Amino acid sequence: MTTTTKKYTLTAALPYANGALHLGHLAGVYVPADIYARFLRLRGEDVLFVCGSDEHGAAITMRAKKEGISPQAIIDKYHGLNKETFEKLGISFDFYGRTSSAVHKETAQEFFTHLYQKNEFEERPSEQLYDEKFQQFLADRYIVGTCPKCAHTEAYGDQCERCGSDLSPDELINPRSVLSGEKPVLRPTKHWYFLLNKHADWLLEWVKNGKVGNQQLHNAADWREHVKGQCYSWLLGGLQPRAITRDLDWGVPVPLVEAAGKVLYVWFDAPIGYISASKEWAASQGKNWEDYWKKDAELVHFIGKDNIVFHCVIFPAMLKSYGEFVLPKNVPANQFLNLEGRKFSKSKGWVIEQHEYLKDFATFANKEDALRYALIKILPENSDSDFKWDEFAAAHDNELADNLGNFINRVLSLTQKYYQGQVPAYNTNAFPELRTELKAQLELIEKMIANYQFKDAMTEVMRLSSRFGNAFLQEQAPWKIYNQEPNAPIIADTLGFGLEIATLLSLLLYPFLPFTSDKIRTMLGLSSCADLEKIGVNNYQNLSEIILKAGHNLGTVEILFAKINDKKDPSRAQLLEAQKAKFAAMKKQFEAEEAAQARAEATKPKEAVSFDEFSKMDLRIGTIISAEAVKKSDKLLKLQVDLGSEIRTVMSGIAQHYQPQNVINQQVVLVANLAPLKIMNVESHGMILMASDDTGKMCFVSPTIAISSGAIVK
Ligand code: 2FM
Ligand code: ZN
Repeated sequence: MTTTTKKYTLTAALPYANGALHLGHLAGVYVPADIYARFLRLRGEDVLFVCGSDEHGAAITMRAKKEGISPQAIIDKYHGLNKETFEKLGISFDFYGRTSSAVHKETAQEFFTHLYQKNEFEERPSEQLYDEKFQQFLADRYIVGTCPKCAHTEAYGDQCERCGSDLSPDELINPRSVLSGEKPVLRPTKHWYFLLNKHADWLLEWVKNGKVGNQQLHNAADWREHVKGQCYSWLLGGLQPRAITRDLDWGVPVPLVEAAGKVLYVWFDAPIGYISASKEWAASQGKNWEDYWKKDAELVHFIGKDNIVFHCVIFPAMLKSYGEFVLPKNVPANQFLNLEGRKFSKSKGWVIEQHEYLKDFATFANKEDALRYALIKILPENSDSDFKWDEFAAAHDNELADNLGNFINRVLSLTQKYYQGQVPAYNTNAFPELRTELKAQLELIEKMIANYQFKDAMTEVMRLSSRFGNAFLQEQAPWKIYNQEPNAPIIADTLGFGLEIATLLSLLLYPFLPFTSDKIRTMLGLSSCADLEKIGVNNYQNLSEIILKAGHNLGTVEILFAKINDKKDPSRAQLLEAQKAKFAAMKKQFEAEEAAQARAEATKPKEAVSFDEFSKMDLRIGTIISAEAVKKSDKLLKLQVDLGSEIRTVMSGIAQHYQPQNVINQQVVLVANLAPLKIMNVESHGMILMASDDTGKMCFVSPTIAISSGAIVK
């Protein structure tokens, strides 16, 4: 039985329980999802926010193999760690499930059976790669080889992580088993394929126009361009039937007698995990899970860009095939976050794991919101972005401490001082122009959050503190008036308005910085916004309701954010410097390794070329007649080279090996027919040949006797 009140179901990608989560995951998925969940709840909406551990598939079994423990031990370890860390960071899931649960097994099997009975699958015999030593079929990540698209030698059987192409194991060149390292053989097997091709037309219409049949389900303009772009490349590329079973012993067993020993493909069962988590939550709350998945429920998936096809093409097709389920109203997928200019890499240690951050900054007051704030400022909503420790510290000190912390402290301290911590009676219509501006500002913030523009919305929330808080207090300067006329009504009006802004900030910050919101509210003598969720606060329209009444007692004033760069207490700056030093040292090492690798690559023997190909090169002796350093470049020299019949300008990357004054009259070999190239805004006509070895030494290749400029090298 469904009730009539509108329900929101928000899902956050189920992380594999094969490792700790890092800041890329938080910024990509969980912080934005939490902002939206808290925003809706505070308005009194009926929200179900689910997530959980993805505990099947090769990601788990391979990790277990690496750590030498059972898959069960792996999932228990990381499910516990990730669940706990999410809680510590205030990610407010209503339910954090796991796909190894009995409810999930039953739900996923029932889903399969239902689609099977509706003839959505096709059974197909095939030949698949098999590891004879380990007696196992090699699906997906159990197989590596060379990518047919970009020649990356470590591409997986389902995807190349270098070029992002989706692959199937039979496309890999020189495939080898991850288990034994050996060349696999082909063995016959059979699998069930979801007939995705049947769904191509309606999916395209749905993504492009938000319509299914004559029902308008969403406004296509509300979807992010990069999300639609990925969908189009799948949908226009032609959808193929997709195997949804695997020959593995870890996963949800396929519920068919003729499929003994086979399990559901992890990407078939994982999104069903959102439904099973909803069922488990509903059972614990005495609610009906179907209210949150059917009729007019509003479903929103929060994911990273690598999961777009599964949430915008495959899972919607599964939901529609099953029948009755709603389709996602939006899938505001984020792009990727980098760390200090490089991709996160767990294997190389180039990663900040969320639980490690909490440990490293244990002594840091409000470390949770310090991190949330830094991440929200750089949410990769429409393009990749970068986390930098210096920016983390600057945002913390300049914005959280000096702007927000300072305003809250000033308005509360002044009220303590002038009115003994009680809200004074004041004119709630004072500063009418500012109030009109404020109303527009609140509407703007609401619109941005509703459009999933969380980064911009938070900037605008912080403007409440800077423009309507600090700048306002500075303009009014009540402390100056107090010295002349302590009972002047304008002082009460100023602090009354300031307290309204502080209260509004506690509400508006709740989705973004929940710990800070709580602290501000305690200082204001108010209970947590979490208590308001039950009644719902429309903080944007009923401003009069949030005004603190005259005589209300405020709480004790405390410091919200203690600055990192604090001369009296260097402990926080030391913690930060330790992190910076750790990553700078790693970066230096990576750069040295990469340079050595590039040199080794460059000195590798090249493929044979024919004499005809070689003769296309016009090599000439040139004499350098002038040389100068190039501004803003430590590598380049700008040279004039005499070729006998003409003088050429050549930009050459030799500045780290030669001083300009030492190369005059030097004879060199020039590739004279290289197409001109613009380098640092200078057109370079030719390239000087250099000899280099793998230690990094480099020198000119020169004639052994003086010879005419322009002489041919052949
Ligand atoms: O990419 C991943 O980490 C997957 N475990 C996400 C699954 S999302 C959902 F479909 F369950
Ligand atoms: Zn590739």
